[in-house]
Amino acid sequence: MVEHTPSPSTRLVHGGRDPERYAGAVNPPPFRMSTALAPDFETFTRPNRKFEPDATAYGRFGTPTHRELEKLLTELEGGTDTVLLPSGLSAITTALFAVLESGDELLMTDSVYGPTRYFCETVLARMGITTTYVAPTLTPEELAAKVGPATKALFLESPGSMSFEVQDVPALTGTAHDHGLTVLMDNTWATPLYFKPLAHGVDLSIQAGTKYIVGHADAMLGAVVANNAWARPLRERMYQMGNIAGSEETYLALRGIRTLDIRLPKHWESSVLVAKWLETRPEVAQVLHPALPSHPQHAIWARDFAGASGLFAFVLAEPQDKAGLAAMVDDLAYFGLGSSWGGFESLIVPGYPAPGRSVSALPGPGPLVRLHIGLEDPDDLIADLGAGLDRLPASGR
Ligand SMILES: Cc1ncc(COP(=O)(O)O)c(C=O)c1O
Repeated sequence: MVEHTPSPSTRLVHGGRDPERYAGAVNPPPFRMSTALAPDFETFTRPNRKFEPDATAYGRFGTPTHRELEKLLTELEGGTDTVLLPSGLSAITTALFAVLESGDELLMTDSVYGPTRYFCETVLARMGITTTYVAPTLTPEELAAKVGPATKALFLESPGSMSFEVQDVPALTGTAHDHGLTVLMDNTWATPLYFKPLAHGVDLSIQAGTKYIVGHADAMLGAVVANNAWARPLRERMYQMGNIAGSEETYLALRGIRTLDIRLPKHWESSVLVAKWLETRPEVAQVLHPALPSHPQHAIWARDFAGASGLFAFVLAEPQDKAGLAAMVDDLAYFGLGSSWGGFESLIVPGYPAPGRSVSALPGPGPLVRLHIGLEDPDDLIADLGAGLDRLPASGR
């Protein structure tokens, strides 16, 4: 047989499954179990059995369904191990708990997903862990100047939630490691197909599988992929906290991920078409899509990312009140008003109230509007959005 490294799309189809083990089932079925019987006393009493590869010691430590998705994500991200959590946010909080202790300082990108910020400001603060926000466009020099004796970790999210700043991940991880920091990154936007955090120096790569991995807006899931240094501490923390993704959800993720490399290029292509059209509209001040040459960090995106997904935002040229935004969004035919993204359908989220920021300004002058471009015909989406922009009140323009 010719030596050949299969491409990610082939691995998405052939990885994370084993028909011979599962009665010929092409996709691993959802194993539903709490109790897992050990074959004998020796096995039952083996120390640390729950950490063995392919272990099924108890439902809370994962089933064969979990093991298959873990293996596939570990392979796609080039990590050592993956743990599966019940939501993207629980993946974020578990990873942070694995790294941080009382008295530590966390450097957090200011454009982080809102509930991550909320967790830092409530639970971490209560535990005596300080969060210091840094600009999403932080340079390595600025990062070095921020590191103090208690600084333990840097959390990146690229592009940033709602405002889509792209971060220079390889430069930042290099500086972070020079100062002994651990780097975590929320990689949900790009998925493991379009950005490889660990290859760019990140230690713990986080994925809200709820979005593109599941891909059909019908299940919640989170994943953390760890490098060699963090694989064991991460799994220990996950077991200590008692959180694990449901096997049904894990099965849905295994089912969804098979088509990731078909869906993502369509989201990417259609989102660029819609974004370019929005740039021609007088109601729009700026379009924030990393794949557009007009994006301030387009060059970093083009250097580091293999593609773009369907999520981006635009800034309205004029301030709008609630009534103005309602006029635009309420009668849209194809864009649903929904907080999530990554499913097959298009969504719109007007940033109202604006997401919280501590050290960096949101682009203006008008409100941000976030779009998820689904798998519909982009011409239909453009017609729908055009009618919505036409409905913006004249006084607000
Ligand atoms: C960038 C990002 N990270 C994490 C999450 C959290 O995922 P979940 O809703 O599965 O907890 C979201 C959800 O919208 C998100 O947009």
